[in-house]
Amino acid sequence: MKPINVGLLGIGTVGGGTYTVLTRNEAEITRRAGRPIRITKVADKNLALAKEVTGGQVALTDDAFSVVTDPEIDIVVELIGGYGIAKELVLKAIENGKHVVTANKALLAVHGTEIFAAAQKKGVMVAFEAAVAGGIPIIKAVREGLAANRIQWIAGIINGTTNFILSEMRDKGLPFDTVLKEAQRLGYAEADPTFDIEGVDAAHKITILSAIAFGIPVQFDKAHVEGISKLEAEDIKYAEQLGYRIKLLGITKRRANGIELRVHPTLIPARRLIANVEGAMNAVLVQGDAVGSTLYYGKGAGAEPTASAVIADLVDVTRMHTADPENRVPHLAFQPDAMADTPI
Ligand code: HSE
Repeated sequence: MKPINVGLLGIGTVGGGTYTVLTRNEAEITRRAGRPIRITKVADKNLALAKEVTGGQVALTDDAFSVVTDPEIDIVVELIGGYGIAKELVLKAIENGKHVVTANKALLAVHGTEIFAAAQKKGVMVAFEAAVAGGIPIIKAVREGLAANRIQWIAGIINGTTNFILSEMRDKGLPFDTVLKEAQRLGYAEADPTFDIEGVDAAHKITILSAIAFGIPVQFDKAHVEGISKLEAEDIKYAEQLGYRIKLLGITKRRANGIELRVHPTLIPARRLIANVEGAMNAVLVQGDAVGSTLYYGKGAGAEPTASAVIADLVDVTRMHTADPENRVPHLAFQPDAMADTPI
């Protein structure tokens, strides 16, 4: 069957992982998607790096707009990040009838309403499994796996960098800055690590999960956000002595008068499973009325775990693209017009 053509924007940590895993697991991925998925064009500022990763097997450019307007491209994978040029590129791709796969939680949490509305109008899909909790398929779990449920709340460790910092400070007594540098070296941290440390990245992610769980628009500006920068080694030690662990949690909860949305360091009894999630691992608890409590655990950051989620979306979108357009289920988190005035 004719391959589906993918244009990749950004071949850094996750882009490189996506290229590697797509190539390595080509046979399985083709079987699951129903047709081959090929990265045919890569845009990156660093052409030498792009050449090194792809071995010169695909077309390379430093002009990302030439990818999103290329008539040969079916799906654009946006791995640039941030709210700036990434937003322009995603909207341009949609305008040009491309499906979009993105790991960009910041973009969706802040501009998701506009982006999903544009995609719905154009009849294309926007898929974003990699935007939340890296390799854990939490978007699909909440949207599809728990589709029967009235979700009551979600609480999760959804920032690997801060969990890594808290774990290393507790276990090895290492200073905050040393551990942060290590998280950056391992490719966990955001380009601007204050997004991790101040809870902004976790807030982006819980905002997206909240929209999917409760059918509300993405409203990052309504989130209460508090990070770990004010925590000291003493706090971690005292918590330990009292039988608790400190974790940075993203929480969203259905309340009588609206939806709660917050990120802050939380004391969790040490005997709880989620208190024992260490390093850059993520874990998300979801409480549904039918299913009860469910827990999802896995790597929340890094090249191949995040690539795993990007490629899962590529497989989904390929299947949908191949289906009759009338029967496509758009990858929307919510109905843009529904519950727009839900208080948070
Ligand atoms: N900076 C993020 C984290 C990367 O540490 O979890 C994955 O979204």
